Parts: sequence; C-alpha cells; structure tokens
Amino acid sequence: MAKITVMTELTTSQSQWFSRQVLDWYDKHGRKHLPWQQDVTPYKVWLSEVMLQQTQVTTVIPYFETFIQRFPSINDLANANEDEVLHLWTGLGYYARARNLHKAAKKIRDEYKGKFPETFEKVIDLPGVGRSTAGAILSLSLQQHHAILDGNVKRVLTRYFAVEGWPGKKAVENELWSYADQLTPRSRPGNFNQVMMDIGATVCTRSKPKCSVCPLSEQCVAKLEQRQSEFPFSKPKKDKPIRFVYMLMLNHHNSVYMYQRPSSGIWGGLYSFPEFEDLVAMQTYLDSIGLTDVDIDFQENKLFRHTFSHYHLDIQPILLPVPDMADIPLGVSEQTEIWFDATNITDTKVGLSAVAKKLLQDL
Ligand code: ADE
Ligand code: SF4
Repeated sequence: MAKITVMTELTTSQSQWFSRQVLDWYDKHGRKHLPWQQDVTPYKVWLSEVMLQQTQVTTVIPYFETFIQRFPSINDLANANEDEVLHLWTGLGYYARARNLHKAAKKIRDEYKGKFPETFEKVIDLPGVGRSTAGAILSLSLQQHHAILDGNVKRVLTRYFAVEGWPGKKAVENELWSYADQLTPRSRPGNFNQVMMDIGATVCTRSKPKCSVCPLSEQCVAKLEQRQSEFPFSKPKKDKPIRFVYMLMLNHHNSVYMYQRPSSGIWGGLYSFPEFEDLVAMQTYLDSIGLTDVDIDFQENKLFRHTFSHYHLDIQPILLPVPDMADIPLGVSEQTEIWFDATNITDTKVGLSAVAKKLLQDL
C-alpha cells in the first residue's frame, strides 16, 4: 500500500538550536588541518570528496597528496592518460570513481576552460557527482548554501529524528533531505556540513555511538528513548522465491538409485535423487530408461520444504519400486550413478545432501 509521508516542518528555534550545537562543536573540535582544508579550492574539495565517498580519512590522505602533487590543476588531471590515473588510485578501490574523476576533468577542461564550475546544476552534471557530493563541494569550498546527505549524515538524522523505514527508500530519503535542507544554516553552511560528516564518521558511529560526547544528545530522539541501535532501519528482506521439484526414488528392496551431482551448484559433488519440475518430464525420463509401464503414485503428505539462503525448495518425494535392479542400467548418463544401500546411511564413502539423508531416513 502506498504510504504518504508528511514532511515535518521544523520550527526556527529547533533548527537554530541544532545548527548552533553543531557549529560550536566545529569551533571546539572540528578537523581543520586536513590537507584539502588548506588553501581550499573547489578542485581539492572535489577530489577529496570523491576519495572520501567510500574510504576513511586516514586512508585518503596520502592518496590525496600524491594526486595533488602529480596533478596540480584540473587540466593536468584531464591530460593524463587513464592508466596513470587508475594506477595512482590503486588501493582505494571502487575504480569507477577514478574513471569518473578523469572523465569529469576532461569535461571541465573542454567545457569550462579547466575552471571548476560554480553552479549546482553544472556540478551535479559532472560524472560521479550526485546531489550530496555537489552540495558538499560547493558548500565546503565556496560557502554556498546547500544541504548534504551522505551515509554519515543519514545515520545522524535518522537517529536524531527517529526516522523509521529504510533510508534507501525514496520516501524516507526525501524526508531526510527535507530535514537536511531545513537544518543547514544560511551562515557557515560549509562548516556545518563538515561537522555533520565528522559527527557521523566519529561520534554517531554505526555501532556504539558516543552519545556522551555528541553535541546533539540533548534533543536526539533515539538517545532519549535509548533506541540508537534501531536506526537506521535496514533494508527489508525480500520473500524468498519458491521452487518446486519431484524427487524420484527408484528402489529395489533396500537399494535406492542415486547419482552424484556436478561439482558446481547446490549440493556439489554430493549424491542425490533425480529431480523433475513436472510429471511429464519424469515420465519422459522413465520412458528413456525403459520403465514404460509403471504407475506413478505418490503421497502428497510427504511434501516438505528445504530452505537455502536464496530460495525455498519444495520437494515432493516419489517412491517407485522397480521389479529388477538390472532394468536400470548404470553408467549410461554422464553422472556417476549408484545403487545405494539405504540401511547404511552412515557409509562415509558417499557424501549425501541433507535432503537425501532425510529422504533415506524416512524410507
Ligand atoms: N566523508 C565524505 N566526505 C567527508 C568529509 N569531508 N569529511 C569527513 N568524512 C567525509
Ligand atoms: Fe547519534 Fe547519539 Fe548523537 Fe543521537 S546522541 S546523534 S544517537 S551520537
């Protein structure tokens, strides 16, 4: 059912209290000595933000310094060949970031004469730059008024406002953007955004948030209700799909026909029973091994479910006594086949799937 989310409008005093807390924290504890915070330019902030997208500050620092030394300007980066850019990125991971960075540098060289664009529309149009990164670049480097909402800020806001629902869902994300927009102050938006990311990365951590040193704890709903660990909500689990098979157990006295499954796929290398998606396929198989004149008869109450990590397998066993084992020639198919002694399940020479074991025990 469609859920209508009503955006909450914050009062001026609520948002002012929030930004005051955050900016005071910046003045007292904010990081101000990172390499991209010296002689700030949009180019440096862009480069650092792309590197920081999936990587921690301490890891990023040496890479950032190497890049700036090798590519002092955007045109230097644009004129490099991609192999060199990727080589210098080695170890940072998520290489699409490096390819996009290089593509964007060429665009800036060709369309903006090598000068980083200064409007939101142009920045968000660069490869690899989304709404939050565009806001971060323009607010941190040029003090423009834009909100940000990266993974760190999402965590802080979902806890502070106790926003329920998975933040990957559009409605929840929109609600969080609405909060971010309302909270970002007109004055010092860059400092505000920097602290929000720092608090998310170092204080409001995924596990064991350090609420006792958090400037927002006094009004944080999750903290007040002791529900920090509930937020952010995780992605709802999809219902697993259901597959259905008939499993054919040809038997003669105590012996049952089994075959070894291919080494890849489920139950790789283990012994199991022939499987069929429908009775026609089973009929065809029985015809092919010369059992043209048998009645297929099965007990529906023997149906059971076996659950794998990604799906349920509903199994209907069919026990089919054959008059003579010699009627079923082994070694015809490509698999290894055996007549297995069902009274000897503990036989360690034959690996049985959990399902095969259960079926043999039930015989
Ligand atoms: N993660 C992404 N951008 C960041 C920044 N500017 N500071 C700290 N963590 C970040
Ligand atoms: Fe996060 Fe705790 Fe701060 Fe709330 S009080 S924002 S849960 S660190």
